[in-house]
Amino acid sequence: MMEANELLEKSKQYMWLPFTQMSDYEKDPLIIKSGEGVTVTDIHGNTYLDGYSSLWLNVHGHRKKELDEAIQTQLQSIAHSTLLGAANIPSILLAEKLVKLAPKGLTRVFYSDSGATAVEIAVKMAYQYWQNKGVQKKTKFVTVSNGYHGDTVGTMSVGSIELYHKVYSSLLFDALVIPFPSVYRHPSGDENIVLDESLEVLRSLFEESHEEIAGMVLEPMIQGAGGMNTMPPGYLKGVEALCKEFDVLLIVDEVATGFGRTGKMFAVEHEAIQPDLMTVAKGLTGGYLPVAATFATEEIYHAFYGEYEEMKTFFHGHSYTGNQLGCAVALANLEIFEKEQLVQQAAEKSVVLKQLLEDVKQLPHVGDVRQCGLMCGVEIVKDPFTKESFQPESRVAYRATLKMRELGLLTRPLGDVIVLMPPLATTKEQLAEMVEILKKGIYLATEELAEMATTD
Ligand SMILES: Cc1ncc(COP(=O)(O)O)c(C=O)c1O
Repeated sequence: MMEANELLEKSKQYMWLPFTQMSDYEKDPLIIKSGEGVTVTDIHGNTYLDGYSSLWLNVHGHRKKELDEAIQTQLQSIAHSTLLGAANIPSILLAEKLVKLAPKGLTRVFYSDSGATAVEIAVKMAYQYWQNKGVQKKTKFVTVSNGYHGDTVGTMSVGSIELYHKVYSSLLFDALVIPFPSVYRHPSGDENIVLDESLEVLRSLFEESHEEIAGMVLEPMIQGAGGMNTMPPGYLKGVEALCKEFDVLLIVDEVATGFGRTGKMFAVEHEAIQPDLMTVAKGLTGGYLPVAATFATEEIYHAFYGEYEEMKTFFHGHSYTGNQLGCAVALANLEIFEKEQLVQQAAEKSVVLKQLLEDVKQLPHVGDVRQCGLMCGVEIVKDPFTKESFQPESRVAYRATLKMRELGLLTRPLGDVIVLMPPLATTKEQLAEMVEILKKGIYLATEELAEMATTD
């Protein structure tokens, strides 16, 4: 086995990590060697609680016996064969299972291999749906500010996080962006006012331009990468009603929220909405392998169906689409959801987590604590009364996550927001441990900044 120091050097010499300034990595490198339950262990033998579910994927903890076995069993038949023009056994069984779990109207499953590809596919399907129906003018998309749907050019176009997307602006297609209904950042701080105002903005936009709008894309109930922003109750339902009224396809991105993360199997269930297209990835395989899916209604599917010469085919696909190993582990994952009543458990644990987070709100620099099920964000501010932020250079949330790492908890910041998104299998005791470290990390980082400010 290679020495830890040698691995460190090689990682610095050969790798380029995603969403990572490599000079940060060089200062504070981390190399994971193994995982067990809701912990991971690095090459030095330090063990950490997986407070971000290995980037919002992990469900049952690491090395779940049934999932390991599902892959081993599938390997005895075949690892992969293409889905282009052919099906395979686990992909068929998984599609059936997914359709049974999804909102009623979603009857077709189109596979891919990441959240971004699932959304890219949904956007292309919505676009081509109208073209196939001969409604050529409907080509635009509406999105919500701070939305995040992935890093391909198409998904960046329907996303709107300035930090990630600004540099590429001339490469992206224009989307119509409406403001996110943020209660925390609204001067009234009143859910009902925010709800009414936001839906009115959308209505005006639709009234003016619906003939040119193909679809609207949004993350349901809580935006993830945009800062764990929760939407007021009724917003999703209101968006659904407006999309129906103005003949705009509703594309719901459940990549982060799907598979129990919000205390429901899918976040759309919180408001019983029926999207036209829906995307899932991350938790679909329990955090094991890259499989994603885009759900479509029968109406959309049929707009693509016909003789080849009619040129309605959806010409899109990825090499690893419908990978057998991935689909087999996804099936095993969904079986555990049923067997262990995991969604119900996640809903119960989210109540415990809510109570634990009450303490976090008391910290001097915590502006807002947002939560939907087991998805939480803690926004750090310089002054909770004025909501003034720390200087961006101080990287307060990043500092706090480094402190947390020292204390045995892994997570990542999103700007000034710290994410806590534990695997669904996390016990109540482990949740308490995570929150304790979260509190200490925030306290230590903000104290350090305060001290630095007084010595300047
Ligand atoms: C809501 C949402 N959509 C899409 C994506 C992109 O998924 P992936 O990183 O698998 O491409 C993410 C990733 O965080 C996400 O949170």
